[in-house]
Amino acid sequence: MKGENLELIKTKFLQEFEGAKTSKERRKICKKYLEDELSSVFASLKKLSGKEKAELGKEANNLKELFSSKMTMLKEIKKEKDEWIDVTLPGKKPALGSIHPLTRTQRRCAEILSHMGFVTVEGPELESEWYNFDALNVEQDHPAREMQDTLFIKQKNREKLSPRERLLMRTQTSAVQARYMEKNKPPLKIIVLERVFRNEATDSSHEINFYQLEGLMVEEKLSVANLQAVTKLFFHNFFGSDVDIRFRPSYFPFTEPSFEVDVSCTICKKRGCSACQRTGWLEIMGAGMVHPNVLESAGIDPSQFTGFAFGMGVDRLAMIKYEIDDIRLFYGSDLRFLNQF
Ligand code: PHE
Repeated sequence: MKGENLELIKTKFLQEFEGAKTSKERRKICKKYLEDELSSVFASLKKLSGKEKAELGKEANNLKELFSSKMTMLKEIKKEKDEWIDVTLPGKKPALGSIHPLTRTQRRCAEILSHMGFVTVEGPELESEWYNFDALNVEQDHPAREMQDTLFIKQKNREKLSPRERLLMRTQTSAVQARYMEKNKPPLKIIVLERVFRNEATDSSHEINFYQLEGLMVEEKLSVANLQAVTKLFFHNFFGSDVDIRFRPSYFPFTEPSFEVDVSCTICKKRGCSACQRTGWLEIMGAGMVHPNVLESAGIDPSQFTGFAFGMGVDRLAMIKYEIDDIRLFYGSDLRFLNQF
């Protein structure tokens, strides 16, 4: 073992190291020199003694230092490469929820009507026969009780209970009108945006439960003209000012006169399409002037006050607005549907 030999190893190492094309190759070279070459160098050092051993030992250690410093450097570079983040890449999109189309529709309705001064009030879904029917001028044997198939609640000795005690799932938000008028006196200007229940088979346009928007205004000297003005303003805000509104005579026990309100078809613009059954019009709302009997049973003097009321399906509003052809989609929790809103 001589000093020149160590010089030679160093030169060879540096040549190989510089000549290598990849850092993987360079790491391999460092490893080879650190392990194989150095161990034979140190083995032959053992045979020496005295000054020579000390001098060459120092040089051999310098070599070791060189190899391992190169190795450390390579490791650092690799680590930096592995941990490198491209901050300009688009991030992962967090899965956010969306507002349900019915909620959106409810909020929009409340927004429009609150600007007109209507206040949102609430009522119970589990209702008494009294508020759902009797207080709304629907007599005991009136066919109107069968107009809407009702989900009655099983109760012991039901026949012996009074209408205020007999329970059902409310079929219409008009029940809230009756409740509200009992406790509050005119001037009244309220809306209800809640769920109602019907005992019927489901199909693309019928659900066992759905949402209604009910409106009630009671004041001195209110007329059909006021009802028409509010109706027009509401639908122009909701669907756009290009829709036409049409009132047709109809019947509800709690209003007189009563109307069925249509809006011109938002899809075909009155030209006639499958959505409007080629009529150019979409049936959208029931309405009328509050029946004097309804005011009276709530303790409001019908000779002093008049009122109008209207009621419509929020689901139907949403279906028309977003061109949805099956009401059941609202209740199916299918994310492919819901993610579109
Ligand atoms: N309650 C009626 C229904 O469910 C709608 C309506 C409300 C009609 C208010 C007139 C006045 O069909």
